Amino acid sequence: MTQPRIAPSILSADFSRLGEEVTKVIAAGADLIHFDVMDNHYVPNLTIGPMVCEAIKPYATVPIDVHLMVRPVDRIVPNFVRAGANIITFHPEASDHVDRTLGLIRDHGCQAGLVFNPATPLDYLDYVLDKVDMVLLMSVNPGFGGQSFIPAILDKARAARAKLDAYKDKTGRHIHLEIDGGVKVENIGEIAAAGVDTFVAGSAVFGHADYAEVIRQMKSEIAAATA
Ligand code: DX5
Ligand code: ZN
Repeated sequence: MTQPRIAPSILSADFSRLGEEVTKVIAAGADLIHFDVMDNHYVPNLTIGPMVCEAIKPYATVPIDVHLMVRPVDRIVPNFVRAGANIITFHPEASDHVDRTLGLIRDHGCQAGLVFNPATPLDYLDYVLDKVDMVLLMSVNPGFGGQSFIPAILDKARAARAKLDAYKDKTGRHIHLEIDGGVKVENIGEIAAAGVDTFVAGSAVFGHADYAEVIRQMKSEIAAATA
């Protein structure tokens, strides 16, 4: 397995002092900063955009993982590139031309990823894997932090890992598998055992008084489950 990565979602951070929160969570062991963009159109909530991404960029000494829950997708991609995004993922249902959007993100120098809602089949991957750097499986319906993990997504993670491993055998290229929603210390081990290597955690990290302690516990659960 590749080095596991913890990606705290700043959706659950204290928005009144976001720079400080980013600094603190990176010092606590975060490997990525997960940045949830919601438009009150594709999902029923409204969050943060490129201006906030630009504002936290000086504090982000690890890559910023931008999760776009917006429609349309293409128009906003260059704004996030300019704002300092490193990885940009989007929902295929929100783009009219999935292959074009993946190409657009990569042409701008970012890593590109597709996000799968709980009921969305993995078929979207079939003809575009050469342009995909990360697959993100939603283990809740997108829109809010603090929801419960949907257990059926463990089977989907195993299926996705098998597809990505087959691709790696053919090409030598590793595509990351990320999960988002309801990830806790209690379930992160079984999620890792299903083949996930990148773990978004919002409320579990920012809802804990000691970020370093919860990230340490998560990493030790992952290590135990994948040993
Ligand atoms: C949900 C967002 C998630 C959310 C996860 O639509 O994409 O990134 O912040 O929050 P938790 O970890 O609390 O489920
Ligand atoms: Zn997210």
